[in-house]
Amino acid sequence: MRLLVTGGAGFIGANFVRSILAQRPDTSVTVLDALTYAGTRESLTGLDSPDGRFRLVQGDITDAALMSELVANLDPETDAVVHFAAETHVDNALADPEPFLRSNVIGTFTVLEAVRARRVRLHHVSTDEVYGELALDEPRRFTETSAYRPSSPYSSTKAAADLLVHSWVRSYGLHATISNCSNNYGPYQHVEKFIPRQITNLLTGRRAKLYGSGAHVRDWIHVDDHNSAVWQIMTRGHVGRTYLIGADGERDNRSVLQTILRLMDHDPDDFDHVADRPGHDLRYAIDPSALRNELGWTPQHTDFEAGLRDTIDWYRANESWWAPLKEAAEARYTAWGR
Ligand code: NAD
Ligand code: TYD
Repeated sequence: MRLLVTGGAGFIGANFVRSILAQRPDTSVTVLDALTYAGTRESLTGLDSPDGRFRLVQGDITDAALMSELVANLDPETDAVVHFAAETHVDNALADPEPFLRSNVIGTFTVLEAVRARRVRLHHVSTDEVYGELALDEPRRFTETSAYRPSSPYSSTKAAADLLVHSWVRSYGLHATISNCSNNYGPYQHVEKFIPRQITNLLTGRRAKLYGSGAHVRDWIHVDDHNSAVWQIMTRGHVGRTYLIGADGERDNRSVLQTILRLMDHDPDDFDHVADRPGHDLRYAIDPSALRNELGWTPQHTDFEAGLRDTIDWYRANESWWAPLKEAAEARYTAWGR
């Protein structure tokens, strides 16, 4: 099987490519990535091998000629495109939405047109943020039939991309699946995101930063569990279907922050309260029963604290990967007062 992986130099994509190449010797991977501030070659080091199973192409998904050239190399019977590439950080989207419109909406449109022309299978990777927020105390979680109610320029451009995929399936018979996953954590996540920001703040002598009250809830999943679900959906899921991926990992931000502080031998109350994010979604939570019941998928990383400990160890051991990103990320936060 040959895979074209867009955004494969980013956090989830790089972990996906690493897992596939390690676990599936019959699969080769071409990564297409623009190497924006969020994607680095260093996330893919060690994968170049003489057997030619891995290749990185630096380029933009909005480049229609490049997209169709890369998709033309794929066999519609056996191969697939896995579409991770996107602008992904809510705070950046609030400051400057334009790149989100370009990469997430026009980019997904360009990917769709390339796979439509070749009738190649597509898996589109999306987020639970398209469903908006839940109240803290309601029993309801997001399901495949939840209404789209995105709140931010990030989630609304991801929602737009999902809707394009749905309509290309219906109108053109595209062979596509969609997944909407909850918040990921693990190695190679950019230091602007919540968990790596706190870990690397402590490692660089800065203080941990909590937005607002910290009562906001996210449903955490280890990146390897997200990626194992993506593989199952891509290879065994029903064409045209949406699958929600989650691992029953709901936790409020304050508890996550305090666990990180404790695991890193800091006083759990030694953090700064900073200004809240405008429009900050209160709670996300996924009901993953359809994925579990239909495809038999189960997460492996069910001990969140153990997963956090491993993630902290990874950031301790890989300072050369994240240190070049840290100053610029913190300069952006300083400018926003967060
Ligand atoms: P990331 O920001 O770490 O990586 C995104 C990658 O896409 C980067 O390598 C970047 O260079 C590349 N990219 C951006 N615009 C591009 C363009 N126009 N052309 C080519 N490449 C481009 O993001 P991530 O956290 O790995 O997220 C990957 C996907 O998973 C996204 O679609 C995101 O919406 C989705 N998702 C993320 C999470 C999460 O918690 N991080 C949860 C659910 C879904
Ligand atoms: P983030 O990793 O940006 O993911 P998302 O907003 O897409 O869920 O943030 C996760 C949560 O952590 C979110 O509720 C905002 C909060 N947060 C902080 O409290 N402090 C921080 O320094 C950051 C970056 C986020």
